[in-house]
Amino acid sequence: MRVYVAEDYTGMSRKAANILSAHVILNPSCVLGLATGSTPIGTYKQLIDWYNKGDLDFTDVRTVNLDEYVGLSPEHDQSYRYFMQTNLFDHINIKRENTNVPNGLAEDLDAECARYNQVIRDMGGIDIQVLGMGHNGHIGFNEPGHAFELETHAVDLTQTTIDANARFFASKDEVPRRAVTMGIKSIMQAKQILVVVSGADKADIVKAAFTGPVTPAVPASILQMHPNVVLVGDKAALSKL
Ligand code: F6R
Repeated sequence: MRVYVAEDYTGMSRKAANILSAHVILNPSCVLGLATGSTPIGTYKQLIDWYNKGDLDFTDVRTVNLDEYVGLSPEHDQSYRYFMQTNLFDHINIKRENTNVPNGLAEDLDAECARYNQVIRDMGGIDIQVLGMGHNGHIGFNEPGHAFELETHAVDLTQTTIDANARFFASKDEVPRRAVTMGIKSIMQAKQILVVVSGADKADIVKAAFTGPVTPAVPASILQMHPNVVLVGDKAALSKL
């Protein structure tokens, strides 16, 4: 595993964007696995900036996102499709048909998960997968205790996650109860993994995930078994490594 320690969030975002840019420049039709959440927002901003300066071209780039809430339309401002449009896709020259986010409105979720796995396979796999990390070590919506061997699947959100998300919705009833997520197996099949972490509140889980035992109790710990992981974090998040 390669570790890059940045001074702060801006430095972390710049380094992560550098790494993604290298893929886009060296392989213009690369497959980027993307994440939502607060951590990668600065990385996406930096990519937009370099695109605006003429340094990056996304014409043939393809993307596949980690996860999506069940029951939210792509236009819902809390859906992950909406997040990707507003934080990245709407600001660069990527083709909408080259971007993939699980369909949270699918009637048959098993069929949707199978379709998504096939999309990833048809693309030839993921060249680099961006991952943020939850405070409990979750990656995607793979919460502690989930089996390592799953590909894309539907999950019931834990009450803690539902409660934490409630602030983004008009009422608690509107908070999605389920999500579709790439599984650990799908994530581990990516050729390279780029983990981004920021802030002192992530220091304990970063330490547990990368120096503790590999266990489903800390889903991100499985990344110790991946041959090509790059961890980019700011000083605060990496302080206990
Ligand atoms: C996002 C995702 C989540 C987040 C994680 C960290 O698509 O699947 O696993 O990466 O919850 O979120 P932040 O970056 O907000 O700390």
